[in-house]
Amino acid sequence: MTKTVFDEQRRKFIGTSMAVASGAAVAGSGLMGSAHAQTQPGSANSGRSTAAAQISARRKLGQLEVSSIGLGVQNMARTYQTIVPARPEMIDIIRTAYERGVTFFDTAEAYGPHECERILGEVIAPFRDKVVITSKFGWNIDLETGARGPGLISRPDHIKRAVEGMLGRLRTDRIDLLYQHRVDPQVPIEDVAGAVKDLKAQGKILHWGLSEMGLKTLRRAHAELPVTAVQSEYSMLWRGPEKEVLPLCQELGIGFVPWSPLGVAFLTGAIDEKTSFADGDFRKTESRFSPENRAHNLALVRLVKTWAERKQTTPARIAMAWLLAQKPWIVPIPGTTQMAHMLDNIGAAEVVFDADELQALNAALKNIAILGERLPAAVLAFSDVEAPVK
Ligand SMILES: NC(=O)c1ccc[n+]([C@@H]2O[C@H](COP(=O)([O-])OP(=O)(O)OC[C@H]3O[C@@H](n4cnc5c(N)ncnc54)[C@H](OP(=O)(O)O)[C@@H]3O)[C@@H](O)[C@H]2O)c1
Repeated sequence: MTKTVFDEQRRKFIGTSMAVASGAAVAGSGLMGSAHAQTQPGSANSGRSTAAAQISARRKLGQLEVSSIGLGVQNMARTYQTIVPARPEMIDIIRTAYERGVTFFDTAEAYGPHECERILGEVIAPFRDKVVITSKFGWNIDLETGARGPGLISRPDHIKRAVEGMLGRLRTDRIDLLYQHRVDPQVPIEDVAGAVKDLKAQGKILHWGLSEMGLKTLRRAHAELPVTAVQSEYSMLWRGPEKEVLPLCQELGIGFVPWSPLGVAFLTGAIDEKTSFADGDFRKTESRFSPENRAHNLALVRLVKTWAERKQTTPARIAMAWLLAQKPWIVPIPGTTQMAHMLDNIGAAEVVFDADELQALNAALKNIAILGERLPAAVLAFSDVEAPVK
């Protein structure tokens, strides 16, 4: 597969990664106990109408307070299907999200690259002080042109220069939460933390986090400079973090931000047996969506739809309400390029499961084994990496 073809096939990768290996292109206290308590609106069910969707619930990631549902803007420069969304519409969605109570916006230098930071920066400028913005460094993105190169770069000097670029594009003097997008196997995490410490001392970074990191690296990073949040894939479709990452976050008092909380649209019911992914849609490369595995995995979508009926809400809201119910320090960042979907998604904060419901839902989930991998092997190789010892 050529680098170009890979680019075409992997939006997430496109958005977040790129490495060339072997000549072939291959492509996030006592936590929170009460401090992380969520202030939820009273309603246990939310209607199907999204017209009045508004979010007032707040959660804490470490010391950072954010709306209990955020907005990921990764797709706003291009979608999985390689369509370039209309910029004015993306701007309208972000602004409306803010007007509806969303205060947590997720981007990265690799999204676009650079362009999603520009879009976000342009929209939030008038209300910058009222929102929490994140960005991420770590993929090999040319600092000037945004061109993608192979592999990862987390050298301290590069991080500092990358942050200067982010501040310009985001039209701000500080980034509330800066993540290392993937662990660089060449750079000790202590050196990365050192760069972030310097940036913090200058007031350019307020908090930091890691994404898809190895567990030892998270411990070392946190020992060096307290980590505010981990951002890794987590949803009803991919429950990997439950085994070790979430317990470690709980132990260390680190918040958790699930990416792809809607299972890259699968959990919304948008994908069925008949869906054929376009060339350029990275989901085509994920074996969990192969026709054989999909036919099996659709049992999960049927379950989500059943619960949507039961709670008189939408599948997307069920998927995210379930995430919110796992821990009070979890804040999903659904991505969308459609106003109606953004309004649907923020309504998830109003969907509450009582203890019996949660038990029933979890029991049903336990009976559905998901077949296939969440990512191609070459991409998965960038996850759970441990940084070298200093
Ligand atoms: N740290 C990392 O490595 C990493 C990796 C991936 C993503 N992320 C972050 O996580 C964010 C979200 O992830 P994601 O976009 O990959 O996956 P996602 O949020 O699970 O799913 C997005 C997909 O679901 C569709 N969708 C959204 N809301 C919907 C609704 N209410 N009903 C029906 N369909 C709906 C979207 O299509 P429409 O556009 O048509 O709504 C899009 O196809 C990204 O924007 C990014 O900020 C981080």
